[in-house]
Amino acid sequence: WQLQAPLIAEINRLKRDMNAVILAHNYMTPEIFHGVGDYVGDSLGLAREAAKSKADIIVQGGVHFMAETSKILAPEKTVLIPDLRAGCSLASSLTGDQLRLIKQRYPGLPVVTYVNTTADVKAETDICCTSANAVQVVEHIAKEWGVDRVIMVPDEFLARNVARQTNIGIIAYKGACEVHERFDASDIADVRAAHPGAIVLGHPECPPDVIAACDFTGSTTAMIDYVTDHKPKQVVLVTECSMADNVAADVEGVEFLRPCNLCPHMKRITLDGIYQSLLHRQYEVTVDPAIIDKARLAVQRMIDMPP
Ligand code: 13P
Ligand code: SF4
Repeated sequence: WQLQAPLIAEINRLKRDMNAVILAHNYMTPEIFHGVGDYVGDSLGLAREAAKSKADIIVQGGVHFMAETSKILAPEKTVLIPDLRAGCSLASSLTGDQLRLIKQRYPGLPVVTYVNTTADVKAETDICCTSANAVQVVEHIAKEWGVDRVIMVPDEFLARNVARQTNIGIIAYKGACEVHERFDASDIADVRAAHPGAIVLGHPECPPDVIAACDFTGSTTAMIDYVTDHKPKQVVLVTECSMADNVAADVEGVEFLRPCNLCPHMKRITLDGIYQSLLHRQYEVTVDPAIIDKARLAVQRMIDMPP
């Protein structure tokens, strides 16, 4: 990616001139992650950064729901996404209308919504969560409401993985991440047979039998931290492929094994797209102010949660 140095330098110059920052998700390619990202991290980290950024413009190195979350937390800023087609199978699995119907079926139960959702869905939500804090959020809101069950949408596998770690009952929905649902427990068995000492880390959007076969599960940043802290000789990151490329540049002596899958939505964000985005101030992500007001309560409640 160092071959891209002239374009990287031009993007970094434009950023300074425009008082813009690039918030880059851990699934961005290395030239974005290492070359132009002002802040790199998981969904929770990106949301926190959007809320406190002093920039006038946020360019989202990530998918549409992440840009919407930035706009919800920083409505006075211009939020740009380099490609409007960068969606997410989880975000498109549930609408605000559908969530209203689910709530009618379970009156009196709080709704915990994964941030991988549209602003409309967040506006119908009591508290958001990410993969970094899902168990903590479920337990926090159940205690606050004095209930022993919560509704958790839209990721069925995340909900089932959380259910294994808490006594709170979880009413799940049927959404899935098209990238993580493709992993199979046999993939883990195969890699363990071929590399008996390898450490296997899995993202909680994977099916529960895959996570049960892993050594560790956590958000994308938690997985990166595990590798940098423990420096295993061989490791498998059961998640999006750019993760291994990005960490590999920072740690020596760690061999990254397969499987991994590509997220076609994340891969729509390219270095050239980011350059064009800054140059032409495109594509602006807007959210209806009435929706922002409702959705912000749910996102802010998550961010303000005691550690
Ligand atoms: P993280 O919040 O763990 O970065 O996950 C976001 C995501 O889209 C994973 O597929
Ligand atoms: Fe959505 Fe899955 Fe892509 Fe993450 S990896 S953005 S959850 S489709």
